[in-house]
Amino acid sequence: MKQIKKNFKVLFVSSEVYPFAKSGGLADVSFGLPKAMSKLFDISIIMPLYSFIDKKQFAIEHVESSFKIVLGAKSYSVKIWSAMYEGMKCYFVESPLLSNKKNLYGTPQSGYKDNDIRFGLFCKAVVAFAKECKDYDLLHLNDWQSALCATFIQEDEAIETKTLFTIHNLAYQGIFEKESLEKLGLDANYFHMDALEFYGKINFMKAGIAHANMLTTVSPNYANEILTDAFGCGLDGFLNKHKNRLTGILNGVDSSHFSPKTDKALVQKYSVKTYDKKVKNKKAYLKERGIKDDTLPLFIFIGRFTSQKGVDLLIEALKELGDLNLHIAIIGDGEAIYHKQIKALAAKNKNIDIEFGYDELLSHKMYAAADFLLMPSLFEPCGLNQLISMSYGVIPIVSRVGGLRDSVYDIEKYDKELACGYGFSFDKNKPNTLLESIKKALALYEDKERFKEINLHNMGCNFSWSASAKEYATLYKSLLEPRA
Ligand code: GLC
Repeated sequence: MKQIKKNFKVLFVSSEVYPFAKSGGLADVSFGLPKAMSKLFDISIIMPLYSFIDKKQFAIEHVESSFKIVLGAKSYSVKIWSAMYEGMKCYFVESPLLSNKKNLYGTPQSGYKDNDIRFGLFCKAVVAFAKECKDYDLLHLNDWQSALCATFIQEDEAIETKTLFTIHNLAYQGIFEKESLEKLGLDANYFHMDALEFYGKINFMKAGIAHANMLTTVSPNYANEILTDAFGCGLDGFLNKHKNRLTGILNGVDSSHFSPKTDKALVQKYSVKTYDKKVKNKKAYLKERGIKDDTLPLFIFIGRFTSQKGVDLLIEALKELGDLNLHIAIIGDGEAIYHKQIKALAAKNKNIDIEFGYDELLSHKMYAAADFLLMPSLFEPCGLNQLISMSYGVIPIVSRVGGLRDSVYDIEKYDKELACGYGFSFDKNKPNTLLESIKKALALYEDKERFKEINLHNMGCNFSWSASAKEYATLYKSLLEPRA
């Protein structure tokens, strides 16, 4: 590929970035992707400065700029802070309304009522900052929280900055009452089906789709799925109108955070060459959790307890798993109804171990300890856990949707010559197929040689950002080069 001019300046805009604030995979991607792109472009990150972020811990000490933002009839003061983290320049937008909340977006029950103004303010501040710095060539926007940047840029004839909008999850669109438009200071013309209007309300996701110069989503298969009624979350018609600008690019994993060779959370680091040492992590983990028999296979589920993640399918399968020779470890947080059901099942079945909440360190230990990963998602734009698991020598059991379909190849068609990861995949629409896959996994576990061969094969595959970063670079270039 032709050398790309490193002096193109890109600002990567996200409402969550690991390790500063995380509610899901968006945070991991929002650090891993710009880090991979920094080899090719001059790229920095910008996100909200939530008050729960420890400024001292991350040396967020320097105020770059402070100004006022006018939204509708109100004016808000904004400070832009900065810090370096792992070689990346990170900017943080601080404004009381945006920053002073306990969580990022709300509780599992509902989003904060003023999220329209909070993230409208975030977007307008980002655009004002980009304008002040003058030389940003491209703003890479992510999900509904940063989508309005595209609209504010389009509004301002003095800014030439291009925009690329990435959809990480179409199920969350940022939908608010019609009155938001006025509060955001946006013209009533935007209340139109070709712009932000959505069934009598306004929809931030539509702003990104309608106004960004280019659109991506996080896997090729999801890019096709969201054009259909089944996965389009009411926006399939709108997306079909804009599909010429839409590309699906599979996410990668930041291998400096997720590699069994270097992972500091592990009792025992390991690689393809030292795979046999992996079991030390399993022993240590089971001991830590007070589980005795370490010869049985360990299945893990790591994720939010929401219907997207297939928690209903998981619960159905758990009901049948009590008698089987396996351990199941679950870590997650989410809807109260799922907490209750899983807790009841864990109380009945000794082989189910559950930890409520999210603990990054524990999740690393779980990947190192596990034999199989359960990921029965009903839809999955990309999914990162299956990629992490394969690089840790854990075989994924996934539903055949979204990015799971693009990244987990059917183990029954295993071909050692192909550099792709293998696992079990099932059709979520057929009854008991998760359970059947778990039973197939148990049989594979008994075939020690094949189990090891497939794990070694998966661990040798490349799940890093390198390939996908090149695809993003081609898109960036196609947007930017005409200006050069
Ligand atoms: C969202 C999606 C997930 C994707 C992640 C990062 O969390 O649900 O599938 O991997 O964003 O793009």
